Amino acid sequence: MKIKNKLIITIFSLPLIATPLALTASDDNVPPIKNKLVLEECGACHLAFQPAFLPAISWEKMMNELENHFGEDASLDKEMTREITNYMMANAQKNKIVNFDNPPLRITELRWFKHEHGEREAKNMLNKKKLNSYVDCAACHKGADKGYYDDD
Ligand code: HEC
Ligand code: HEC
Repeated sequence: MKIKNKLIITIFSLPLIATPLALTASDDNVPPIKNKLVLEECGACHLAFQPAFLPAISWEKMMNELENHFGEDASLDKEMTREITNYMMANAQKNKIVNFDNPPLRITELRWFKHEHGEREAKNMLNKKKLNSYVDCAACHKGADKGYYDDD
């Protein structure tokens, strides 16, 4: 009896490596916030940052610890917290690789953000406007409240 040739198939399982793309892609413009409560409550101390700048898990974490929000107490009642959390998570950034144990809480510390704002142009604007950080988006991006950042 003849032994048939065996076809040996080795399956290489490819891990999903999408990191370079995911971390360098920047969003020029993002959808504006349409929820009144978010605009009012999250725009009370600074520009209401658009949810598309951070992944859902970041918003979830941030909303869970509003009583200690970057050194401030930004806590809200249960119902407001729930409505805002739902809105931010539903409109969050999608398709990005996220470290679930340590999700980013600052837009200004994201890699693409540092890249965009590390050039001379942004640094000069920072000095000229006498700002000490990039948190005040609207100081340089006139359309920031409309989600428009591709304007200078
Ligand atoms: C009581 C004032 C206050 C309120 C209300 C408030 N924040 Fe903040 N938020 C701060 C301060 C202070 C910082 C840190 C600013 C800095 O580093 O200069 C901050 C920073 C942030 C940052 C990080 C900015 C960066 O560096 O990229 C995000 C995102 C943010 N807030 C989201 C929210 C959301 C969402 C809400 C509504 C639930 C909210 N904030 C309401 C005071 C507030
Ligand atoms: C001191 C001025 C300044 C501040 C403050 C600032 N930016 Fe920028 N930003 C710039 C400059 C300059 C560029 C690069 C020029 C460009 O590409 O349009 C830029 C680029 C960007 C881009 C990419 C736009 C593009 O055309 O690709 C985004 C998105 C952006 N900024 C978002 C933000 C957000 C969100 C904040 C606040 C958390 C912020 N910026 C704060 C000056 C600033």
